[in-house]
Parts: sequence; structure tokens; C-alpha cells
Amino acid sequence: MIETIGFCQEMRPESCGFILFGATGDLAGRKIIPALFGLCEKKLTPKNFYIVLASRTPLDRGALESRLWNTLAKAGFAPSPENFSSFLGRLEYLQADYGNGDFYGRLSQRLAALDAKFGVKKNRLFYLATPPAAFEQITGELKSGGLLFEPEDRACWSRIIVEKPYGSSLESAAALDAGLKTAASEPQVYRIDHFTGKEAVQNVMALRSANAVFDNTWNSRFVDHVQITVLEELGVEGRAAFFERMGLARDMMSHLLQLAAITAMDLPSTFRDTDFKAEKKRFFESIRPLSPEEAAKQAVRGQYAGYRAEPGVAPGSAVETFLSFKFQVDNDRWRGVPFYVRAGKKTGAKKTRIDLVYKKPDRGIFRAIDIGYPNVFSFSIQPEEKVAFSLISKHPGPKLCFVPRSMGLDYRPEGREAAGYPTDYERLLIEAMSGDKTLFLSSFEIQFMWKFLSPLLEAWQAGPEACPLHAYADGTPGPAAAEELIKKDGRSWV
Ligand code: BG6
Repeated sequence: MIETIGFCQEMRPESCGFILFGATGDLAGRKIIPALFGLCEKKLTPKNFYIVLASRTPLDRGALESRLWNTLAKAGFAPSPENFSSFLGRLEYLQADYGNGDFYGRLSQRLAALDAKFGVKKNRLFYLATPPAAFEQITGELKSGGLLFEPEDRACWSRIIVEKPYGSSLESAAALDAGLKTAASEPQVYRIDHFTGKEAVQNVMALRSANAVFDNTWNSRFVDHVQITVLEELGVEGRAAFFERMGLARDMMSHLLQLAAITAMDLPSTFRDTDFKAEKKRFFESIRPLSPEEAAKQAVRGQYAGYRAEPGVAPGSAVETFLSFKFQVDNDRWRGVPFYVRAGKKTGAKKTRIDLVYKKPDRGIFRAIDIGYPNVFSFSIQPEEKVAFSLISKHPGPKLCFVPRSMGLDYRPEGREAAGYPTDYERLLIEAMSGDKTLFLSSFEIQFMWKFLSPLLEAWQAGPEACPLHAYADGTPGPAAAEELIKKDGRSWV
């Protein structure tokens, strides 16, 4: 058991009702219902808490219960009978008709009854796990049905969680946001990017904030370049329809930019979510936009060889399953330090990591001699959760020679301790129930993501000759062109 020291801040989720729209859909089944059960099992929910699952599908209680059991089993849970029945005891199902005011009337009555039963004071968290096209209609109906309270009302709250895809272009994202905002105000909207909820991602910030020795060297004086890698073993896995519409760049860009921000933004002066978001915004604003011409030179797209044979994929599909690009940050900390990013499917192994590659010494005895540099500060986010610093050490023995060694911190706790930790989605639900927006994306961040991505998409559309789609063999870490992208700058992927 690791003992904590000194400072310990705990999020306290406030008593509330959790209403999940789209409860029989893919996202609910893969992520939200398992997270809700995980929170119940780990006793991390508020004491006064209930769940309403809503979806168009008609389900009687028996069918609901067996469906939930299967959902949890598929997500890797083996619930004890007590835990499962305690979960069911907090939960109701409501068949929904999202466009019909009567449904919201029924919902309102059920929420009032459940508030009374579970001792909740009209605090409500609505999770819209529906297609984004339904967001505006649902929030509008919630508002006109009296289910969305004004944020100024201190006696109770209502919050809305939404999840990507936040549109498929800058314009459609803006329209989606505007639609959502006709009924809900910005403080009420919680936009998820589940990468920010990952334990090891949080540790990047924690380590930077608590150890001046590292953060003081995270700048252009010491760091040669930064690498962000999000490679996945899996292919599209039954999501071909979604992928054919979106492609990897749209699917993953938010995650990549969030990892970049958490690594490289200036540290906020307090833990307040507003301070954190202000610094993150400043970082995004200092990323140099890529023009379509630069995008053609600084970005590589690829497709794994077996993609076109996946069920649901068009035989001649030009959708990318791999992306790599380079960008620059125009601020005092990072000016001149390139950021190299790569993300892809079917690349042989899951590997999510952030690497800060240090400069070689430019003075002193080893200025001109290669003794195995560079020093690299690495955060492995998935599947391992590790922090490592590779340095050069003397080889033990009579001679003066050097070897690269690594100092490491295995971040993942073992056994029972690990079992009590929240997963990414569980953590984000706790934060939303606590009213802390640090880990959620602002309207600005979504807009920034699309502004940054649009020239890339434009370049790919306009000039397949200038920006070819490179094939890569299944199980390899992307096309040779991605190696070339970094190699031509005299560097290589870690
Ligand atoms: C999702 C993407 O947001 O993130 C998926 O839609 C991707 O395509 C997934 O596989 C990766 O998340 P994780 O947590 O499995 O690394």
C-alpha cells in the first residue's frame, strides 16, 4: 500500500439522479453502464444516488436485468449477487420517445418520485449517449419540460454530459454547439474526452506540478522535441460505418491534442478548473496553425492493408486509419521544439505514450562524442502505466565507458489497491457529479480542434497526389512515410 503525504484532495460527488439517454446503444453498453456499475461496486457514488436508463427500445424488467448482466459480463465484470442486486435497486428503465413532450412529462414525474425515494434534492446529471443529431432536440425538450434548471439556482443543479463525435467539420461542430446552447448554458455542458480521465494522464500533470526539477527543464532550452504516440492493436472492430464517415483524424484528434496540452501547457497557478482551462486555452492558442500546403508536407495518412476487406468498408475506401503529423508551438517555452504525433489502428500493439526527447549536451567533455544520447522522459499511458527517464551512466568496471540506463516508476498499483481505483469513465462521472470541469472540454477546445484539423482534411481532399494514402501492413507501426516524416529532421520515433 502506497502512503500519501501532505496534500490530499478528494472529489466529493454530490447526491444526484443520473439519467442516461441512449441506454441500449453502443456507447452506453461499452462505457457508461460499466462505469456506473464500477462506481457502485467501488462505493464511489454519492450516498443518495439513483439511475434512470432511457432508450427507445421497449424492455420489461426481466429483459432489462438480463441485458445489464450481459453488458457487465462483456465489459469484464463478474458481479457478486449482492453487488448486482444493489445496482439494480438504484435503477429504473424508461422507454423514451425523444421528440415527444409526453415522454419528458413522464420523466419529470419519475424523477420527482425517485428524488423522494433516494433523498436527492433535484440534482440531475443527464448523459446524452445518443447520436449527436438528437442533442438539440433532447436539451430543448428538457428545458421546456422544466427539467433543466438555471445554473444560478443554488438549491439544485442540472448538468448535461455529451461525448464526441462533436460534429464532422468546423461548421457542423459549431452548429451542434449552437443547438445545444439554445437550451443549456456553457457551465451546464460537460464535454467528454475520456483520455483526460486516464490515471496515467493525470499523473503527467501531478508530476509536473509537484516536481520543479522536471518542469523547469520542459522547455526549448533542454528539450529537443516531443513525441505523442497513440497506437492501437485493434482495427475498426465492427465500427466500420462510423469509421467510414469519420476516419482516424476526426476520431482521434481531440485525444492527441489533449495529450499535447497536458504535457506542454504552462502550469496553472491553482487547482481551480477555471485557471486550468485558461492555461490550456493559452497553449492551444499558441499552436501554429498548419496551412493546407504545410499539412501536405507535415502530415502523413495511412490505411492498414486489411481495412478494405473489413465488413462494411467500401472496396475502394480512401479513409485513413493512421495519421502522423508535426506541429510547432509559438510561445516562450516551446518555440523551435517540434511536436511529432502519430496515431493508428492495427499497428501490432497498444501503445499510448508521451516522450520528451532531451537535447544532447552542447558543451563539455561529451559535446562531440556520441555516448548513447538522448535522454528521454517517457510517460507510458497504456497498457503499462510507467514513467521512465533514460540517462547515460558509467558502465561498471575498470574502464570509463557508458551505457544508456533507465530510471523508472511503475505507476500502476497492484491487486486490491488497483481494484479500488476509478477507470477513466468512472473518474469523469465523479468529476461531473462534483461539478468540477477541469477534465472536460470547453466550447473553445472543440472549436480549436476543428480549426486545427480542417486544413489537413482539406489538403487530403484537394490533392490525393500531394497527400497520398500510404498503405501499411497489418501489425506494423504505420507506413514508412511516417518514419520518413521524422527522419528527414534527423530524428526517429522512440
Ligand atoms: C475512442 C475512439 O474515442 O478512443 C476509438 O473512438 C479508440 O476509435 C479509443 O479506439 C481509444 O481509447 P482507449 O481508451 O481504448 O485508448
